[in-house]
Amino acid sequence: MLAPAQVEHYARDGFLSPNPALTRDEAAAYRAKLAAFEAAVGGPLTSDATTRYRARTHVLLAWVHGLVSHPAILDAVESLIGPDILVYTSTWFIKEPESAAIAAWHQDATYFGLRPYVHVTAWLALTDANAENGCMEFLPGSHARGQLPHRAGVVPDSVNRAGQAVTVDVDDAPAVHAPLRAGEFSLHHTLLLHRSQPNRSEGRRVGLAISYVPTSVQHRGVKHKTPAMLVRGVDRFGHFELEPAPAADLDEAARAAYARSAEGYRASYAEQVAREG
Ligand code: NI
Repeated sequence: MLAPAQVEHYARDGFLSPNPALTRDEAAAYRAKLAAFEAAVGGPLTSDATTRYRARTHVLLAWVHGLVSHPAILDAVESLIGPDILVYTSTWFIKEPESAAIAAWHQDATYFGLRPYVHVTAWLALTDANAENGCMEFLPGSHARGQLPHRAGVVPDSVNRAGQAVTVDVDDAPAVHAPLRAGEFSLHHTLLLHRSQPNRSEGRRVGLAISYVPTSVQHRGVKHKTPAMLVRGVDRFGHFELEPAPAADLDEAARAAYARSAEGYRASYAEQVAREG
């Protein structure tokens, strides 16, 4: 579990980084599993043909489920949001060598439609992530500003699905890089302003962002009951459609669950993008 001082740091700054999860050897083994998955689906997850496999692979692949339910990550998350924990979504954020992909200043909460704002994202690095290859930058304390207006579809080469950016001026002087070594993770609040720059290195930058919410949170979608996966504790609320953990990579049940999961999430996300503009 996190120490009280770490919980206070998160409450004040809106993030906590770095935190240990995997050894470097374990991170390398997971990179090999990712490469095998990319070969199986026909190319790197950064290609247009495979974008649908960027999100929610914890429903499809047992090894990704192992990452989103890793005890070191869940212990830290439990310290921040309590013992009953759902994975709302997970997304691969990969930047190929010397590529233009970026994220503009944004708050993750904008298109998630989750209330109250107690969602925390763990960003798990499978390669080193640093200023040169486009690690995340955080604006300390910016979560205290509450939800800010955003616009979708305004950022070319965005690693974010909606290509969104905040529409207010951001003084980026206090921004800090959050470098991670392979196997480490950062934690950030859903209202924290963050961004990332292009990968100017000759190596790939690979991370898995995992969105955690307590079971008490509600999704305000009107048309869709959103899928989520229980990874610790119990769900006494029933606000989400609970989805099964995969028993084996890409088996028939996992493929069926993944198809339902992807469609349910896509519909919910599109509804929120349309609502927020
Ligand atoms: Ni983000």
